[in-house]
Amino acid sequence: MQTALAHMDFHAAKALLDWQIELGADEPIGEAPVNRYEIAAEAPKPSAPAAPEAPVAAEPEADPVAAATEAAARAGSLEELAAAQAAFELCELKKGARNFVFADGNPEARVMILGEAPGRDEDMEGRPFVGRAGQLLDRMFAAIGLARTAHHADEALYITNVMPWRPPQNRDPDPAEIAMMLPFVKRHVELVNPDILVLMGNTPCAAALGKRGILRLRGSWTEAFGRPAMPMTHPAYLLRTPAAKREAWADLLDIKARLGELP
Ligand code: URA
Repeated sequence: MQTALAHMDFHAAKALLDWQIELGADEPIGEAPVNRYEIAAEAPKPSAPAAPEAPVAAEPEADPVAAATEAAARAGSLEELAAAQAAFELCELKKGARNFVFADGNPEARVMILGEAPGRDEDMEGRPFVGRAGQLLDRMFAAIGLARTAHHADEALYITNVMPWRPPQNRDPDPAEIAMMLPFVKRHVELVNPDILVLMGNTPCAAALGKRGILRLRGSWTEAFGRPAMPMTHPAYLLRTPAAKREAWADLLDIKARLGELP
């Protein structure tokens, strides 16, 4: 080619070049042969793939019981406790509930009732025990001279639940949900400081005593959070089982008698 080109005039050479370009030639042919396999071998290596990112330390799973314990311990008043519990984000029940249900009644009361969880009416209203079971509860305690509306501590009631959010379909709260609310319940009892605690149903017995089986537990004094506690059948159970009201009445009389004995 070199030799042939040497004898070509400029115009012939230009025409030949144009033709080669048209055929797809895109680089001049050098003097020496080129081994393209070597080139490929020597070709600069593609830049090394980016080093895998240093594993990002997985966000440690929040420990709901530890978080609740810390939040509850910081609360120095019922208002602060309510705010801390309402702001607690690690309980799934909160997402499905309409309202946060903290408490009702007189915080000076000598008797504090610990129920299970809000139902439909309580969730709508944001107050514990306002549905049919709540109305029965009011009548039961009125029979021994106690009311949530009373001003005097001796005649008053203070009412709360283990769970401040309604579980879907009113299912029982599960053990993990109870465990993460327990620090708030403990602090609640500490701040109210009642003489007597009434454990209304299985969930408060599970929370405060670590036991279930309300029909076995009811009617016998026990101790919860360092004070006398009486497990009682839940008023919702009494609505379904009127025959059990006799025993509930006996438990109420026992509470009244104990109030008389305590200083
Ligand atoms: N049952 C409960 O245990 N608590 C309520 O507030 C209402 C029904």
